[in-house]
Amino acid sequence: MAIFRGTEENIKKAAEHLNNDNLVAFATETVYGLGANALSPQACEKIFQAKKRPKYDPLIVHIAEMGQLNDLVQEIPKVALDLAEAYWPGPLTLVFKKKEIIPDLITSGMDTVAIRMPAHPLALALLSTAKIPVAAPSANPFGYLSPTTAEHVNAQLGEEVEIVLDGGECDWGIESTIVDCSQGEAVLLRQGGISAEDIRRVTAEVKFGKAVLERPLAPGQLASHYAPNTKLIVLKKGEQPLESQSKSVGFLQIGAAVIDADEVEVLSRDDKDFKTIAHKLFSALHRLDSLGLDVIYVYELEGEDLAAAIMDRLLKAAAKRS
Ligand code: TXA
Ligand code: MG
Repeated sequence: MAIFRGTEENIKKAAEHLNNDNLVAFATETVYGLGANALSPQACEKIFQAKKRPKYDPLIVHIAEMGQLNDLVQEIPKVALDLAEAYWPGPLTLVFKKKEIIPDLITSGMDTVAIRMPAHPLALALLSTAKIPVAAPSANPFGYLSPTTAEHVNAQLGEEVEIVLDGGECDWGIESTIVDCSQGEAVLLRQGGISAEDIRRVTAEVKFGKAVLERPLAPGQLASHYAPNTKLIVLKKGEQPLESQSKSVGFLQIGAAVIDADEVEVLSRDDKDFKTIAHKLFSALHRLDSLGLDVIYVYELEGEDLAAAIMDRLLKAAAKRS
Protein backbone atom coordinates (compact mmCIF):
# COMPACT_ATOMS: atom_id res chain seq x y z
CA MET A 1 0.00 0.00 0.00
CA ALA A 2 1.07 3.56 -0.64
CA ILE A 3 0.19 6.40 1.69
CA PHE A 4 -0.77 9.45 -0.43
CA ARG A 5 -0.83 13.02 0.83
CA GLY A 6 -4.00 14.86 -0.15
CA THR A 7 -2.68 16.79 -3.15
CA GLU A 8 -4.94 17.56 -6.09
CA GLU A 9 -3.06 15.07 -8.24
CA ASN A 10 -3.31 12.31 -5.64
CA ILE A 11 -7.02 12.94 -5.13
CA LYS A 12 -7.52 12.62 -8.89
CA LYS A 13 -5.58 9.37 -8.96
CA ALA A 14 -7.57 7.97 -6.03
CA ALA A 15 -10.86 9.04 -7.66
CA GLU A 16 -9.88 7.22 -10.86
CA HIS A 17 -8.96 4.16 -8.82
CA LEU A 18 -12.46 4.19 -7.30
CA ASN A 19 -14.06 4.57 -10.72
CA ASN A 20 -12.10 1.51 -11.87
CA ASP A 21 -13.80 -0.47 -9.08
CA ASN A 22 -10.72 -0.56 -6.86
CA LEU A 23 -10.44 0.13 -3.13
CA VAL A 24 -9.22 3.44 -1.69
CA ALA A 25 -8.85 4.07 2.04
CA PHE A 26 -9.34 7.69 3.03
CA ALA A 27 -9.49 9.99 6.02
CA THR A 28 -12.81 11.19 7.36
CA GLU A 29 -13.45 13.28 10.47
CA THR A 30 -14.69 10.16 12.35
CA VAL A 31 -12.38 7.25 11.42
CA TYR A 32 -10.60 6.17 8.22
CA GLY A 33 -12.91 4.54 5.69
CA LEU A 34 -12.26 1.74 3.21
CA GLY A 35 -14.01 3.00 0.08
CA ALA A 36 -15.40 1.39 -3.07
CA ASN A 37 -17.82 2.43 -5.83
CA ALA A 38 -21.20 2.02 -4.15
CA LEU A 39 -22.98 1.35 -7.45
CA SER A 40 -20.76 -1.61 -8.31
CA PRO A 41 -21.38 -4.94 -6.51
CA GLN A 42 -18.03 -6.14 -7.85
CA ALA A 43 -16.20 -3.21 -6.21
CA CYS A 44 -18.11 -3.57 -2.93
CA GLU A 45 -17.30 -7.28 -2.85
CA LYS A 46 -13.64 -6.23 -2.47
CA ILE A 47 -14.46 -4.41 0.78
CA PHE A 48 -15.93 -7.58 2.30
CA GLN A 49 -12.91 -9.59 1.11
CA ALA A 50 -10.32 -7.14 2.44
CA LYS A 51 -12.00 -6.74 5.83
CA LYS A 52 -13.15 -10.38 6.14
CA ARG A 53 -16.46 -8.78 6.90
CA PRO A 54 -19.60 -10.94 7.14
CA LYS A 55 -22.24 -10.18 4.53
CA TYR A 56 -24.87 -9.56 7.22
CA ASP A 57 -23.12 -6.32 8.22
CA PRO A 58 -24.31 -3.55 5.84
CA LEU A 59 -22.14 -0.67 4.58
CA ILE A 60 -22.51 3.12 4.83
CA VAL A 61 -22.66 5.04 1.52
CA HIS A 62 -20.81 8.39 1.41
CA ILE A 63 -21.86 11.36 -0.71
CA ALA A 64 -20.47 14.86 -1.33
CA GLU A 65 -23.68 16.83 -1.94
CA MET A 66 -27.40 16.73 -1.28
CA GLY A 67 -28.13 16.40 -5.00
CA GLN A 68 -26.81 12.82 -4.92
CA LEU A 69 -29.34 11.74 -2.31
CA ASN A 70 -32.35 11.68 -4.65
CA ASP A 71 -30.66 9.14 -6.92
CA LEU A 72 -30.14 6.73 -4.03
CA VAL A 73 -33.23 6.89 -1.83
CA GLN A 74 -36.98 6.54 -2.42
CA GLU A 75 -37.99 9.47 -0.27
CA ILE A 76 -36.42 12.02 2.05
CA PRO A 77 -38.63 12.25 5.15
CA LYS A 78 -38.83 15.69 6.77
CA VAL A 79 -36.93 14.55 9.84
CA ALA A 80 -34.04 13.35 7.63
CA LEU A 81 -34.00 16.59 5.67
CA ASP A 82 -33.92 18.62 8.88
CA LEU A 83 -31.13 16.48 10.36
CA ALA A 84 -29.12 16.65 7.13
CA GLU A 85 -29.52 20.43 6.99
CA ALA A 86 -28.37 20.75 10.58
CA TYR A 87 -25.46 18.27 10.66
CA TRP A 88 -24.26 17.45 7.14
CA PRO A 89 -21.49 17.42 6.29
CA GLY A 90 -20.58 15.80 9.60
CA PRO A 91 -20.43 12.70 11.83
CA LEU A 92 -24.04 11.68 11.22
CA THR A 93 -25.33 8.74 9.16
CA LEU A 94 -29.00 8.64 8.14
CA VAL A 95 -30.94 5.54 7.10
CA PHE A 96 -33.46 5.79 4.23
CA LYS A 97 -35.62 3.50 2.09
CA LYS A 98 -33.29 2.57 -0.75
CA LYS A 99 -33.71 2.77 -4.49
CA GLU A 100 -33.12 -0.24 -6.74
CA ILE A 101 -29.76 1.17 -7.89
CA ILE A 102 -28.14 0.34 -4.50
CA PRO A 103 -26.67 -3.20 -4.65
CA ASP A 104 -28.10 -5.69 -2.10
CA LEU A 105 -24.56 -6.39 -0.96
CA ILE A 106 -24.37 -2.90 0.57
CA THR A 107 -27.58 -3.24 2.56
CA SER A 108 -27.31 -6.94 3.47
CA GLY A 109 -30.46 -7.45 1.47
CA MET A 110 -32.49 -4.94 3.52
CA ASP A 111 -34.68 -2.35 1.83
CA THR A 112 -32.94 0.53 3.63
CA VAL A 113 -29.58 2.19 3.03
CA ALA A 114 -27.31 4.18 5.39
CA ILE A 115 -25.90 7.42 3.97
CA ARG A 116 -23.41 9.97 5.27
CA MET A 117 -21.88 13.20 4.00
CA PRO A 118 -18.48 13.41 5.74
CA ALA A 119 -17.00 16.78 6.73
CA HIS A 120 -13.30 16.05 6.24
CA PRO A 121 -12.15 18.25 3.30
CA LEU A 122 -10.11 15.39 1.85
CA ALA A 123 -13.07 12.99 1.94
CA LEU A 124 -15.32 15.61 0.35
CA ALA A 125 -12.72 16.35 -2.35
CA LEU A 126 -12.35 12.64 -3.14
CA LEU A 127 -16.12 12.11 -3.32
CA SER A 128 -16.78 15.11 -5.53
CA THR A 129 -13.85 14.30 -7.83
CA ALA A 130 -14.92 10.65 -8.15
CA LYS A 131 -18.51 11.76 -8.85
CA ILE A 132 -19.88 8.47 -7.51
CA PRO A 133 -21.33 7.48 -4.14
CA VAL A 134 -18.71 5.58 -2.16
CA ALA A 135 -19.46 2.71 0.21
CA ALA A 136 -17.02 2.81 3.11
CA PRO A 137 -16.88 0.94 6.39
CA SER A 138 -14.11 1.68 8.86
CA ALA A 139 -10.78 0.59 7.34
CA ASN A 140 -9.95 -2.23 9.76
CA PRO A 141 -10.26 -6.01 9.70
CA PHE A 142 -13.77 -6.92 10.90
CA GLY A 143 -14.11 -6.65 14.67
CA TYR A 144 -10.72 -4.99 15.25
CA LEU A 145 -9.92 -1.47 16.48
CA SER A 146 -11.00 1.33 14.14
CA PRO A 147 -8.19 3.28 12.41
CA THR A 148 -7.70 6.96 13.19
CA THR A 149 -4.46 7.48 11.23
CA ALA A 150 -3.19 6.41 7.79
CA GLU A 151 -0.52 4.36 9.60
CA HIS A 152 -3.20 2.35 11.39
CA VAL A 153 -4.73 1.49 8.00
CA ASN A 154 -1.35 0.54 6.61
CA ALA A 155 -0.58 -1.69 9.58
CA GLN A 156 -3.93 -3.49 9.39
CA LEU A 157 -4.87 -3.59 5.71
CA GLY A 158 -1.62 -2.65 3.95
CA GLU A 159 -1.67 -5.88 1.95
CA GLU A 160 -5.25 -5.42 0.74
CA VAL A 161 -5.38 -1.75 -0.26
CA GLU A 162 -3.25 0.07 -2.79
CA ILE A 163 -4.03 3.66 -1.89
CA VAL A 164 -4.71 5.39 1.40
CA LEU A 165 -5.35 9.13 1.32
CA ASP A 166 -3.69 10.59 4.40
CA GLY A 167 -5.70 13.35 6.04
CA GLY A 168 -3.91 13.26 9.38
CA GLU A 169 -5.43 12.19 12.68
CA CYS A 170 -9.22 11.92 12.65
CA ASP A 171 -10.85 14.75 14.53
CA TRP A 172 -13.60 12.79 16.30
CA GLY A 173 -11.85 9.42 16.59
CA ILE A 174 -15.06 7.38 16.85
CA GLU A 175 -17.58 6.37 14.19
CA SER A 176 -20.56 8.48 13.16
CA THR A 177 -23.89 8.59 14.96
CA ILE A 178 -26.49 6.51 13.06
CA VAL A 179 -30.13 7.61 12.94
CA ASP A 180 -32.76 5.53 11.15
CA CYS A 181 -35.22 7.91 9.44
CA SER A 182 -36.73 5.34 7.08
CA GLN A 183 -40.03 5.24 8.99
CA GLY A 184 -40.31 9.03 9.14
CA GLU A 185 -39.12 9.39 12.73
CA ALA A 186 -35.67 9.55 14.32
CA VAL A 187 -34.42 6.26 15.78
CA LEU A 188 -30.90 6.42 17.20
CA LEU A 189 -29.05 3.21 16.30
CA ARG A 190 -25.43 4.07 17.16
CA GLN A 191 -24.06 6.85 19.34
CA GLY A 192 -21.27 9.06 18.06
CA GLY A 193 -20.26 12.70 17.68
CA ILE A 194 -23.82 13.97 17.12
CA SER A 195 -25.59 13.45 20.45
CA ALA A 196 -29.20 12.57 21.25
CA GLU A 197 -29.42 16.14 22.55
CA ASP A 198 -28.21 17.46 19.17
CA ILE A 199 -30.90 15.40 17.45
CA ARG A 200 -33.57 16.65 19.85
CA ARG A 201 -32.71 20.19 18.84
CA VAL A 202 -33.98 19.29 15.37
CA THR A 203 -36.82 16.88 16.13
CA ALA A 204 -38.68 16.66 19.44
CA GLU A 205 -38.80 12.89 19.63
CA VAL A 206 -35.84 10.55 19.47
CA LYS A 207 -36.32 6.84 19.93
CA PHE A 208 -33.55 4.36 20.67
CA GLY A 209 -33.04 1.30 18.49
CA LYS A 210 -30.43 -1.36 17.98
CA ALA A 211 -27.66 -1.40 15.39
CA VAL A 212 -27.97 -4.14 12.78
CA LEU A 213 -25.21 -6.29 14.24
CA GLU A 214 -26.80 -6.34 17.69
CA ARG A 215 -30.27 -7.34 16.57
CA PRO A 216 -29.81 -11.14 16.37
CA LEU A 217 -28.35 -11.27 19.87
CA ALA A 218 -30.17 -11.80 23.14
CA PRO A 219 -30.82 -8.68 25.23
CA GLY A 220 -27.81 -7.69 27.29
CA GLN A 221 -25.46 -9.77 25.18
CA LEU A 222 -22.65 -7.81 23.58
CA ALA A 223 -20.95 -8.68 20.34
CA SER A 224 -17.21 -8.15 20.41
CA HIS A 225 -16.29 -5.23 18.15
CA TYR A 226 -13.74 -2.42 17.99
CA ALA A 227 -11.54 -4.89 19.86
CA PRO A 228 -7.77 -5.08 20.47
CA ASN A 229 -6.05 -8.49 20.39
CA THR A 230 -4.98 -7.92 23.98
CA LYS A 231 -7.59 -8.66 26.64
CA LEU A 232 -9.32 -5.44 27.72
CA ILE A 233 -11.02 -5.13 31.10
CA VAL A 234 -13.35 -2.26 32.05
CA LEU A 235 -13.15 -1.63 35.80
CA LYS A 236 -15.97 -0.17 37.88
CA LYS A 237 -15.24 3.00 39.80
CA GLY A 238 -13.02 2.19 42.79
CA GLU A 239 -12.49 -1.41 41.65
CA GLN A 240 -8.91 -2.74 41.67
CA PRO A 241 -7.49 -5.15 39.07
CA LEU A 242 -7.60 -8.81 40.09
CA GLU A 243 -5.01 -10.13 37.64
CA SER A 244 -1.77 -11.44 39.16
CA GLN A 245 1.06 -8.96 39.52
CA SER A 246 3.41 -11.01 37.35
CA LYS A 247 1.44 -10.13 34.23
CA SER A 248 2.37 -7.19 32.05
CA VAL A 249 -0.33 -4.61 32.42
CA GLY A 250 -1.45 -1.70 30.27
CA PHE A 251 -3.62 1.11 31.53
CA LEU A 252 -5.81 3.54 29.64
CA GLN A 253 -6.01 6.48 32.02
CA ILE A 254 -9.12 8.66 32.12
CA GLY A 255 -9.30 11.15 34.96
CA ALA A 256 -7.23 10.93 38.14
CA ALA A 257 -7.64 7.23 39.05
CA VAL A 258 -4.51 5.15 38.40
CA ILE A 259 -3.47 1.52 38.85
CA ASP A 260 -0.08 -0.16 38.99
CA ALA A 261 0.77 -0.66 35.30
CA ASP A 262 3.75 -1.24 33.01
CA GLU A 263 2.44 0.91 30.18
CA VAL A 264 0.10 3.87 30.51
CA GLU A 265 -1.76 5.89 27.88
CA VAL A 266 -3.38 9.02 29.27
CA LEU A 267 -6.56 9.84 27.34
CA SER A 268 -7.35 12.83 29.54
CA ARG A 269 -6.80 13.74 33.17
CA ASP A 270 -10.18 15.47 32.98
CA ASP A 271 -12.79 12.68 33.01
CA LYS A 272 -15.39 15.06 31.55
CA ASP A 273 -13.35 16.04 28.47
CA PHE A 274 -15.10 13.48 26.28
CA LYS A 275 -13.99 15.03 22.98
CA THR A 276 -10.33 14.51 23.84
CA ILE A 277 -11.01 11.04 25.22
CA ALA A 278 -12.81 9.99 22.00
CA HIS A 279 -10.13 11.58 19.81
CA LYS A 280 -7.32 9.60 21.50
CA LEU A 281 -9.17 6.37 22.29
CA PHE A 282 -8.35 4.15 19.29
CA SER A 283 -4.81 5.51 18.84
CA ALA A 284 -4.03 4.73 22.46
CA LEU A 285 -5.51 1.24 22.15
CA HIS A 286 -3.55 0.64 18.93
CA ARG A 287 -0.30 1.49 20.72
CA LEU A 288 -1.01 -0.56 23.84
CA ASP A 289 -2.17 -3.46 21.64
CA SER A 290 1.15 -3.45 19.77
CA LEU A 291 3.19 -4.04 22.94
CA GLY A 292 2.25 -7.68 23.59
CA LEU A 293 0.84 -6.95 27.05
CA ASP A 294 -1.22 -9.55 28.93
CA VAL A 295 -4.06 -7.24 29.79
CA ILE A 296 -5.24 -3.63 29.40
CA TYR A 297 -7.38 -1.94 32.04
CA VAL A 298 -9.58 1.13 31.82
CA TYR A 299 -12.05 2.64 34.29
CA GLU A 300 -15.67 2.99 33.19
CA LEU A 301 -16.91 6.41 32.13
CA GLU A 302 -20.02 8.10 33.44
CA GLY A 303 -22.24 10.36 31.38
CA GLU A 304 -24.53 10.50 28.37
CA ASP A 305 -24.05 11.23 24.70
CA LEU A 306 -20.36 11.23 23.73
CA ALA A 307 -19.52 9.55 27.08
CA ALA A 308 -22.07 6.84 26.26
CA ALA A 309 -20.65 6.52 22.74
CA ILE A 310 -17.18 5.95 24.20
CA MET A 311 -18.49 3.44 26.78
CA ASP A 312 -20.27 1.58 23.96
CA ARG A 313 -16.92 1.18 22.15
CA LEU A 314 -15.09 0.16 25.37
CA LEU A 315 -17.67 -2.45 26.37
CA LYS A 316 -17.72 -3.95 22.88
CA ALA A 317 -13.92 -3.97 22.80
CA ALA A 318 -13.93 -5.79 26.15
CA ALA A 319 -16.69 -8.27 25.22
CA LYS A 320 -15.82 -11.96 24.93
CA ARG A 321 -15.15 -13.10 21.40
CA SER A 322 -17.26 -15.95 20.08
O1 TXA B 1 -18.03 7.18 10.89
C1 TXA B 1 -18.43 6.26 10.20
O2 TXA B 1 -19.63 5.98 10.06
C2 TXA B 1 -17.37 5.43 9.45
C3 TXA B 1 -16.74 6.32 8.38
C4 TXA B 1 -15.79 5.58 7.50
O3 TXA B 1 -17.74 6.98 7.65
N1 TXA B 1 -17.93 4.25 8.90
C5 TXA B 1 -18.35 3.21 9.67
O4 TXA B 1 -18.77 2.09 8.96
O5 TXA B 1 -18.34 3.24 10.87
P1 TXA B 1 -18.93 0.67 9.64
O6 TXA B 1 -19.00 -0.34 8.58
O7 TXA B 1 -17.87 0.43 10.62
O8 TXA B 1 -20.38 0.71 10.26
C6 TXA B 1 -21.50 0.41 9.45
C7 TXA B 1 -22.68 0.21 10.33
C8 TXA B 1 -23.22 -1.21 10.30
O9 TXA B 1 -22.54 -2.06 11.17
C9 TXA B 1 -24.65 -0.96 10.72
O10 TXA B 1 -24.72 -0.92 12.15
C10 TXA B 1 -24.97 0.41 10.18
O11 TXA B 1 -23.76 0.99 9.82
N2 TXA B 1 -25.82 0.32 8.98
C11 TXA B 1 -25.45 0.26 7.68
N3 TXA B 1 -26.52 0.18 6.87
C12 TXA B 1 -27.60 0.18 7.68
C13 TXA B 1 -29.02 0.11 7.45
N4 TXA B 1 -29.53 0.04 6.24
N5 TXA B 1 -29.83 0.15 8.54
C14 TXA B 1 -29.32 0.24 9.77
N6 TXA B 1 -28.00 0.31 10.05
C15 TXA B 1 -27.16 0.28 9.02
MG1 MG C 1 -16.45 -0.53 11.84
